[in-house]
Amino acid sequence: MILGVLTGGGDAPGLNPAIRAVALSALAQGDQVIGFLGGWKGVQENDVVEIDRGWAESILDEGGTKLGTSRTNPMKSESTMSAVIENFRGNKLDALVAIGGDDTLSVAAELSRRGLPVIGLPKTMDNDVPETDYCIGFDTAVNTVRDSLDKLRTTSRSHDRVMVVEVMGRDAGWVAGVGSMAGGADWVMLPEEEPDVEALCAHLTKLREDGKTYALVVIAEGVQLGTAPSGVDQKTDAFGHVQLASKDVGATLAGLIEERLGWETRSVVLGHLQRGGSPSAFDRVLGTRYGVAAVDHAHRGEFGIMVVMKGWQLRTVPLDQIAGKTKTLDPGFIAQLKQLF
Ligand code: F6P
Repeated sequence: MILGVLTGGGDAPGLNPAIRAVALSALAQGDQVIGFLGGWKGVQENDVVEIDRGWAESILDEGGTKLGTSRTNPMKSESTMSAVIENFRGNKLDALVAIGGDDTLSVAAELSRRGLPVIGLPKTMDNDVPETDYCIGFDTAVNTVRDSLDKLRTTSRSHDRVMVVEVMGRDAGWVAGVGSMAGGADWVMLPEEEPDVEALCAHLTKLREDGKTYALVVIAEGVQLGTAPSGVDQKTDAFGHVQLASKDVGATLAGLIEERLGWETRSVVLGHLQRGGSPSAFDRVLGTRYGVAAVDHAHRGEFGIMVVMKGWQLRTVPLDQIAGKTKTLDPGFIAQLKQLF
């Protein structure tokens, strides 16, 4: 077979292990493997690299994606879709493995509807792709949040301060919630809930009355505090998402806390640090298992699917089933987290 592989959307640790696994398992079966550079842009512009064992084998521990990525949306026009289909056929692909989040997979679903043999693998540190327990990049991001909270605790404690930590998560609070539990935050604001600054301040007051001299507060970037600065936050990407980094919800919340409680407060935006670094053992194994499974399905002629993980089991779901949906943070988990505050 001739297999294509690409990575689209925001990068995340674990992409390279997935690419490597697609390549090594396909090459071991005598297949040819072609990498498209820069996500769908690479297919649109036929920017390709021939992947051999040497190219792929040493990238297991590397963050980012050796294939590069972009937020290119070929569905924006019929001519770019035609270019993608033409290059798909021109490269004589028997299968294309598209590794990405909702946006990347929505293009894969559209190609599949048009009859092309496509398989999706879920990647996003936001962990909000539906039908799977785990997306590539989530575990490493949570470890980064946990590590950051551990470090921020010592400086907050030394200075008797509140530290507001803004983490990624546009529509879902997986990284905020799981990272908060792992790092022992004193409060978390999630996109799943209405922000309640009063309740937060009441809790901080109680902590202070109980003798606590510092506090860690986590806020997901997607929380709507309703105080975003004008203009700068309206930049959108090719899929129409507003760039949230400029909204500064963490700094806004820190200002509100300091103003209301008179408790010195600092804020920090973890930002793209959460997408960097060497993949955790879990993300290496997850990416590898997804990659091997994708090649297996290609050899069985099973297309129009996304490989998912439920518990420890790999399954597949139709690509059509996930488009436009978001997997928000499990309410049972949120309830447990809240019992600590
Ligand atoms: O990949 C998803 C995500 O990490 C979001 O949580 C965040 O809002 C966005 O990417 C940032 O993307 P960019 O790399 O375009 O700044």
